[in-house]
Amino acid sequence: MTGVNEIRSAFLEYFGKNGHAIVPSSPLVPRNDPTLMFTNAGMVQFKNVFTGHETRDYVRAVTSQKCVRAGGKHNDLDNVGYTARHHTFFEMLGNFSFGDYFKDVAIELAWNLITKEFGLDPKRLLITVYKEDDQAFDIWKKLTGFPDERIIRIGTSDNFWQMGDTGPCGPCSEIFFDHGEHIPGGPPGSPDEDGDRFIEIWNLVFMQYEQVTPGERVDLPRPSIDTGMGLERIAAVLQGTHDNYETDLFRALIAASVDLTNVEATGEHKASHRVIADHLRAVSFLIADGVLPANDGRGYVLRRIMRRAMRHAHLLGATEPLMHRLVPALMRQMAEAYPELSRANALITETLKLEETKFRTTLIKGLGLLSEASSDLGKGDVFSGDVAFKLYDTYGFPLDLTEDALRTRGIAVDHAAFNAAMEQQKAEARKAWKGSGEAATETVWFEVRDKVGATEFLGYDTEAAEGEILSLIKDGKPVKTLKAGDEAQIILNQTPFYGESGGQVGDTGVIRGPKGAVFRVTDTQKRLSDLFVHFGTVESGAFKTGEPVSLEVDHARRTATRANHSATHLLHEALRQVLGTHVAQKGSLVAPERLRFDFSHPKPMTADEIREVERRANEIVVQNVPVETRLMALDDAMESGAMALFGEKYGDEVRVVSMGYTPGDASESVGKKANKAWSVELCGGTHAKRTGDIGLIKVVGESASAAGVRRIEALTSDGARAYLASQDERLREAAAMLRTRPEEVLDRVRALLEEKKQLERQLSDAKRQAALGGSGASDTGSGSAVRTVGDVKLLARTVEGLNPKDLRGLIDDGKKQVGSGVVAVVGVTEDGKAGIAVGVTGDLTDTYSAVDLVRVGAEALGGKGGGGRPDMAQAGGPDGSKAADAIKAIEARLAG
Ligand code: SER
Repeated sequence: MTGVNEIRSAFLEYFGKNGHAIVPSSPLVPRNDPTLMFTNAGMVQFKNVFTGHETRDYVRAVTSQKCVRAGGKHNDLDNVGYTARHHTFFEMLGNFSFGDYFKDVAIELAWNLITKEFGLDPKRLLITVYKEDDQAFDIWKKLTGFPDERIIRIGTSDNFWQMGDTGPCGPCSEIFFDHGEHIPGGPPGSPDEDGDRFIEIWNLVFMQYEQVTPGERVDLPRPSIDTGMGLERIAAVLQGTHDNYETDLFRALIAASVDLTNVEATGEHKASHRVIADHLRAVSFLIADGVLPANDGRGYVLRRIMRRAMRHAHLLGATEPLMHRLVPALMRQMAEAYPELSRANALITETLKLEETKFRTTLIKGLGLLSEASSDLGKGDVFSGDVAFKLYDTYGFPLDLTEDALRTRGIAVDHAAFNAAMEQQKAEARKAWKGSGEAATETVWFEVRDKVGATEFLGYDTEAAEGEILSLIKDGKPVKTLKAGDEAQIILNQTPFYGESGGQVGDTGVIRGPKGAVFRVTDTQKRLSDLFVHFGTVESGAFKTGEPVSLEVDHARRTATRANHSATHLLHEALRQVLGTHVAQKGSLVAPERLRFDFSHPKPMTADEIREVERRANEIVVQNVPVETRLMALDDAMESGAMALFGEKYGDEVRVVSMGYTPGDASESVGKKANKAWSVELCGGTHAKRTGDIGLIKVVGESASAAGVRRIEALTSDGARAYLASQDERLREAAAMLRTRPEEVLDRVRALLEEKKQLERQLSDAKRQAALGGSGASDTGSGSAVRTVGDVKLLARTVEGLNPKDLRGLIDDGKKQVGSGVVAVVGVTEDGKAGIAVGVTGDLTDTYSAVDLVRVGAEALGGKGGGGRPDMAQAGGPDGSKAADAIKAIEARLAG
């Protein structure tokens, strides 16, 4: 039972048996606390449960919590490798009671575990309690029978635990292990307590208060328990060593590093192997929890840890990138307990390899400069802050790397000069900014960015988090507070809200402040590339700068947007496959309810092409493979065939999103053969977790967007299904109207159209008949259609609903009917316009001209002109209501 993995399981099982819910570790990036850079204790995920702001369906819990203490308030980075117990990453075992049991049960559970289950000899244990905590003292006394000098009262902050400046807190009691006289060090509270002999192994915190602000402390709703035991420390004790790096887990990692470097872990190289083993854990777990190397924020802490390890790999003589080759050893040790590690295996390996490959080129040059600039220095001297800055700025040396390199020689770095050089560079960058075109219109953003720095985006991994208000803007000006009804912008230190970019719309959602304050976010935009601005309105309460707030993205909307973004990538690739590689993205819109994709292509797509594009894209949806995101060097990404946008500016590191495998290829793992993924695209957007989350892709429109650019519009998931359902509904309604089944609708419509054509033909024949005497035609003026005007016979009619093209036939028929005379027909169309035709029989064309007569008629109809021959002419006019006037006018002309 003494292996690290067994100890972890035994701890969880012991408390599990004692009625505790076994809760998985929360991520290293705290979602519920804006003041913490990394999760640094087991209680962080339960912070709001202690204070009563959150309830869970259990009142007792046990965890093995991933913690990082590097950067931010707790920072152990500098000591790692040189001491027996410092780590950047460690696991904290803890049991928790949320208003359930208190001191007596907590103490008894702890005592039984270490003395009975773990079998530690009580004679080697010591207890501390908070000076005023008589109750804890008495419980321990009764339980252990220890003399007073082995239950030590401590009055300092060592025995009053606080999460940070704010948060739950309370007095605590610690259990110490005595490693024996052969190790230097004194008991807690003594002058040499920091030695390695007496080691704190377990901290039991009796949570009683909440520090609301640094000056205000209130009682928790109910007294609670939070305990923390470093797994590395208890493992060392149970494995009979005082050195965490001598435990089985660390020995395995160090053995892997010895194996790959061929350098023994002794003497001057001992520290380097330890640094590498420790940092390997920290960086791998951070990457698995969504942190990627960056030049600020959490990403920079990660980069610092990586580069520090890489220098030590160099010290061990590694000439090739080393860290990524140690990942399999870490997986063997820890992936079973933390499955997120194996899920991120490819990402961890590639990120480490990329960082080390890139950094090696400047590391060696930088180390040359460092040794040159320090050659005259000795123990106690101070290294130039300007050179340290040059190493930082030009060679990518984090300050702690430079310090670490000089540490063994006892040389410090001039921090003040380093900071001054950094400040000066920032001032120059500001000047350059202010000279840029954007500055004139939106100066306020420059001021804000200058003051608060870049916003850290958490939204790839979470849609809810806490943040701290850094700036409030109302009417274009920074303000300190906002009140109900204010329309404003909020800027935070970190946010899960996606700021509109790359075609993807900004997130909406809600920001909640203390005392029920609500800010409805209607849009999120990025300013100056990395400042996330939340636009919206205060619905209730008030907001102040400096306050912590909780942030919640509209989940349904984001989920739909994710699906649409991933679908856009799939359609892009499918279009290139079906239409050709000339297809290049010309713009896109990724919104929750639809997607739009513009691409270069010279002609409209055929129905077959659209169907094939849809089919191919949906084939990848059905594969339901994970959507993989990696960080790559731009050159490598381009070489691997990733699609990028022309004219888009990319940094030298890019996010690459890959999806699917070529259908028919048996392996479903994209990660292992990342470059062979079906769709590979540079993208900063948010995506579905698996292609199956897209549900379905349906193209609903194809049109021209600009010359040589086509636009397709598509729906996914619920939207696509709703669309298809409504199409189906319409088809059913149509079938019902046609009194047939949906599958026969087309035949039925075809038959109806044919029938319609025939009926139209018949109708037109009938009208012609009617025009020459039957019903449907109206006499004009006199009672009979044929009358004699002077010595000429005139056959004149108006026919309603007549198609002008039928006029000519009517005139011919009319001429036959009169034998000798003039025929005039006015056809009035359905929309009230008129056509007029006049015919003159051959014997009269010398006397009367059809062209002349039709013009007279057309004028009466509000038209003019007309054309034809003397025996037959035709014209039109806008006003069909004047048909009778037209006939009268012709009659008058004939009358002379
Ligand atoms: N929160 C306490 C600590 O971190 C006990 O878990 O030591």
